[in-house]
Amino acid sequence: MEYKELMLKAKEARENAYSPYSNFKVGAAVLMSNGKVYTGCNIENASYGATNCAERTAIFNAISDEHGTIRVLALIGSEEEYTYPCGICRQVISEFSDENTKIIVGKNENEYLVKTLKDILPGAFTKKDLHK
Ligand code: THU
Repeated sequence: MEYKELMLKAKEARENAYSPYSNFKVGAAVLMSNGKVYTGCNIENASYGATNCAERTAIFNAISDEHGTIRVLALIGSEEEYTYPCGICRQVISEFSDENTKIIVGKNENEYLVKTLKDILPGAFTKKDLHK
């Protein structure tokens, strides 16, 4: 699946954002190792800290269907500036990715940057760091 196609799905998911507090809409689409695409949007809460970002919504949607690895994650927030995954989302992406996982941050389906997790979360803490 092309990045452009995935970005369009992220853009569509952004429409469902529930963001009455920030008024900032974010959409994400993940292509998983099972070949399926799952989407998600940000879902805010009156208790702000209970907010779930678009990336985590999409990833949790995918993992609750079938365990696997993220091949590509596409993300779109603002159309003026690139919206990068927040720190918590980077950690969650790390749990379900490998060295080939691509993170696409886009302003729209034609303007996007292609990153790896290593680019945005060097030195990630992972399960290999546990029980040593
Ligand atoms: N947000 C995301 O959905 N993903 C990110 O990686 C950055 C932040 C959402 C959370 C909140 O609803 C709004 O953007 C403002 O922080």
